[in-house]
Amino acid sequence: MPDQALQDVVTTLAAAAPIGQAKRGPTVPPFDYVIFGGTGDLTFRKLLPSLYATFRDGLVEASSRIIGASRAAMSAEAYRARVLEALTRHLPADELDAESCRAFLAQIDYVELDALGSGGWNALAAALDGDNDHVRVFYLATSPDIFGPICRQLQNAGLINEKSRVVLEKPIGHDLGTARQINHDVGQVFAEPAIFRIDHYLGKESVQNLLALRFANSLFDPLWNSRYIEHVQITVAETVGVEGRGGYYDRAGALRDMVQNHLLQVLCLVAMEPPSYLATESVRDEKLKILQALGPIAREEVLQRTVRGQYRAGVSHGKAVPGYLDEPGISPDSQAETFVSLKTEVHNWRWAGMPFYLRTGKRLATKTSEIVVQFRPVPHSIFPGYSSQELVPNKLVLRVQPNEGVHLHMMAKEPGPGGLRLREAVLNLSFSDTFKQRFPDAYERLLLDVVRGNPTLFMRRDEVEAAWRWIEPILDGWREFRVPPKPYVAGTWGPSASVAMIERDFRSWHDEVTPER
Ligand code: BG6
Repeated sequence: MPDQALQDVVTTLAAAAPIGQAKRGPTVPPFDYVIFGGTGDLTFRKLLPSLYATFRDGLVEASSRIIGASRAAMSAEAYRARVLEALTRHLPADELDAESCRAFLAQIDYVELDALGSGGWNALAAALDGDNDHVRVFYLATSPDIFGPICRQLQNAGLINEKSRVVLEKPIGHDLGTARQINHDVGQVFAEPAIFRIDHYLGKESVQNLLALRFANSLFDPLWNSRYIEHVQITVAETVGVEGRGGYYDRAGALRDMVQNHLLQVLCLVAMEPPSYLATESVRDEKLKILQALGPIAREEVLQRTVRGQYRAGVSHGKAVPGYLDEPGISPDSQAETFVSLKTEVHNWRWAGMPFYLRTGKRLATKTSEIVVQFRPVPHSIFPGYSSQELVPNKLVLRVQPNEGVHLHMMAKEPGPGGLRLREAVLNLSFSDTFKQRFPDAYERLLLDVVRGNPTLFMRRDEVEAAWRWIEPILDGWREFRVPPKPYVAGTWGPSASVAMIERDFRSWHDEVTPER
């Protein structure tokens, strides 16, 4: 974007209303964020808009800086123009104001760098020179194969000081072996407390609210076990397709992209024992125990306990959309799954014998992430004309997104004379109605937690490896038994086999189409 065009955007933004959130004053020490993969999709879509929000809200010291690093030949000026373009594209207009944009862009620099070669490292050192009192964060938004090499390069270039930390984007590796290798290589350079393995689901407000719901209320814990809960469903459904990330996605598939990290981390928070204190290691210790207690899905069980799917052309948001195989960057005979559902258990005292169903997919009927806790029926009905089966069992739905909130489905008496008629009613707690303030993006919180040096909401090395250990037999089984992904039409709830899997257990998925905001 030429300078004049950039100026025009800034001027246009000047007319937009500022977000109107009181500036709170810096909550973290000054920092330099160096983003490897500085021209990538994640950087423009999530990292920079989130960093902008922290600057705008006055949460960071104004001297803090962001340095994009990538192979692309580009001047700092041109990079800033692309950043501005990304902010206007990915943030609502009322979250942008010209003064904050100008101040934010002034703190952005760019270094053209060859992560594996020698070019650009002196330039990066020069860009960081003089900021030795700043916390130095190296954010690796690159392919995981080069996490280790980049760390070694940082070390050789003498860029790591005692205030340095490294952030690793998921997925950490492609399987257990590569994850171990990455953890080993990065661990040769950075100590474990300085390694932040990000899973942005842990930064979502409603995922953290799960901790509040479970451990800041006495109501739920006595019932939070397989004696009172019949099963749990965790769904992360998306309406988007692969969105220009075909090259990465086609190698990964939904199991690696979503289940190994986001869904298992959410499952851990649902199932873990109360930590004695909300301290980093005690929370991570409890999550690890769940990952280690997950009932293994043996290779020969994959056909009964997992379903893979791949979308075909269909309709999403009223528009015709292509099938997965016709998306850019996808090989024409790709066997990557864009949908997975599975059934597992947690083998411990609290959850013995009770299934957890997980499901995620792209191009599904609606965008929704939710946890559904299905309680058991009452043991006996006192109501004439209603058997205990006719009293609809309670269900607690924790909406992660959109319309974040908690919904408790309960039986209630229908008003009016003429006998006691019962029907299901829902008690709704909507977070946006209750807390009338902006819900920050998950990355905002997590990016600042790195600067604070607080890894509670990040994955520890052993957690990542335990998750891969559980995932690997599923991948092996799919390969060994040549389980192809079953086709499903874009805009539906995935392959019918997924419905059949849960219906074999006389249960059904909680499918509600919700309007996207
Ligand atoms: C990312 C996955 O980790 O999470 C993407 O790589 C997915 O494929 C995204 O779309 C979903 O995140 P959110 O926050 O939009 O639910």
